[in-house]
Amino acid sequence: MNGNDLDDLDRWHHEFPILADTVYMISNSLGAMPAAAADSLADYARTWATRGVRAWEERWWEMSREIGDKIGAVIGAPAGSVSMHANVTTATAVALSCLQPRPDRNRIVCLESDFPSIIYLFREMESLGWQLVVVPAEPDFSVRTDRVVAAIDERTALVAFSHVLFKTSYIMDPAPIVVAARKAGAHVLLDGYQSAGIIPVNVAALGVDFFTGGCLKWLCGGPGAAFLATRPDLLPTMRPRFTGWLAHRAPFAFDTGALEPRDDAMRMMGGTPPISAYYASLPGLQIITSVGVDRIRARSKQMTARVLELADRHGFRSIATRDPERLAGTVAVDPPDALPVSRALKARDFLVDYRPGVGIRISPHFYNTMDEIDRTMATLAEIVERKAYDRDAPAQSVVT
Ligand SMILES: Cc1ncc(COP(=O)(O)O)c(C=O)c1O
Repeated sequence: MNGNDLDDLDRWHHEFPILADTVYMISNSLGAMPAAAADSLADYARTWATRGVRAWEERWWEMSREIGDKIGAVIGAPAGSVSMHANVTTATAVALSCLQPRPDRNRIVCLESDFPSIIYLFREMESLGWQLVVVPAEPDFSVRTDRVVAAIDERTALVAFSHVLFKTSYIMDPAPIVVAARKAGAHVLLDGYQSAGIIPVNVAALGVDFFTGGCLKWLCGGPGAAFLATRPDLLPTMRPRFTGWLAHRAPFAFDTGALEPRDDAMRMMGGTPPISAYYASLPGLQIITSVGVDRIRARSKQMTARVLELADRHGFRSIATRDPERLAGTVAVDPPDALPVSRALKARDFLVDYRPGVGIRISPHFYNTMDEIDRTMATLAEIVERKAYDRDAPAQSVVT
């Protein structure tokens, strides 16, 4: 893909209102809202106001399937294999609830560099008979594939790990881990929250049993629309214990006997879904689909390379891998006093975040411009050089 193929991406800048008055470098956390999301949410309000309860049969009951299929088209999961959940932690709990710990096969293998919420879930599940094996991270927060493979054996029921590590944006190579898990008879769950929408993902080709993610970040869809893709040939055998009436083939029979699960991914669902979140997610999915993740990745590589080049020029440490094939959408830059520096950046409307150990995470998306990268790094350098920050300022937000 040559540079010219990416020229038209700049036009998207105007489709995201927040870009008019902020430099938005935080899509790893919350993707920018497309202007069209406001129209879609107005459509939701209009439907609720005018159609009322009729909306369930007219669209809403099957809307999880509708959104799941659109997500499936972005991540290479076949129609009918993606279910919707409130967040990735819940989606993980649903997948885990399909499995049962047995005395001889009760281990969950995950990574120290996985997102903590998922590890909290697994740890709490130990009281139900699961045993957690956390593969340690290296000093640079990467996790060696051979160490993951070595942790898998016939006692392993589930190997759950991040496709892209959240702190460093390092892209794991799932292939050898999937092979080892298969050989040991274990299931694999890949957390794609930091991969879907920013690097090409083909769930079918990855060969994993479960793939989780959400619309919140790189899919620009806001909170509440997380998902779980289940391998289609596995789906008919999956019976989540964490379930509900959306999974039932005849929910309106209100029968209290055994649940008769649907054939499609909605068998993985529970109770009434957050329909407003689905409306919010539609424009982002539509935009990501029309731009194309291959082009997004090409632009993202240009931008992350530029951040690294400027970080080097200013002498800032960065834990980011120098292999562009292994770096996803975020570059962590770690100047002295990174936490107060990140707050000073935010005070100037350069939106970034800070994570202990790695510093300031800079996460451009396809709607950002190279000029914004240059301005972010120039402002960062100026704040550091002039020490234009308050080291003792109290935290002002929940994210730093
Ligand atoms: C890789 C990864 N997994 C999971 C989560 C959290 O997911 P949720 O809050 O939807 O449960 C995050 C949030 O940043 C993440 O980066």
